[in-house]
Amino acid sequence: MSFVSIIMGSKSDYEVMKNCADTFEKFDVNYEMIISSAHRSPERTKEYVKNAEEKGAIAFIAAAGMAAHLAGALAATTTKPVIGVPMKGGAMDGMDAMLSTVQMPSGMPVATLALGKAGAVNAAYLAMQILAISDKELAVKLKEDRIVKSKAVEADSKEIEVIL
Ligand code: RP5
Repeated sequence: MSFVSIIMGSKSDYEVMKNCADTFEKFDVNYEMIISSAHRSPERTKEYVKNAEEKGAIAFIAAAGMAAHLAGALAATTTKPVIGVPMKGGAMDGMDAMLSTVQMPSGMPVATLALGKAGAVNAAYLAMQILAISDKELAVKLKEDRIVKSKAVEADSKEIEVIL
């Protein structure tokens, strides 16, 4: 069974990353979600990635804050796509996590998304866009979702718009 794996560095990341899981639920896409830290439980993280790959993980989403090494640690362990979601918080309110996640050396990519809820939701969308390359049903669902979003913009505008 193919699935996407969500790994977060701490339980404190869950409130934001639940938005990622909810997005997969909405599109009926299989996912796993665990807490494992690059710093506090490096062996568990490495072992999990190895097992998840063997079970059919197609992509990995890593969420971490502060000196966020989780996405980079995953990228060091797998050649599957790794999507990083920097978490807000700490003295620099996420700027540290954003730079730690995005500044990977060449040949070791981490697709780094926005801080906060938008990043968590977009991590699921990006993973689904990867899956949709070989899943026509999911590709259709993603296109329909774009149409819904576009219509919502028009509906919102109609409520307030002033056009001469
Ligand atoms: C990171 O440090 C975690 O991903 C979390 O965002 C941050 C703070 O962790 P806690 O101290 O709240 O567990 O490793």
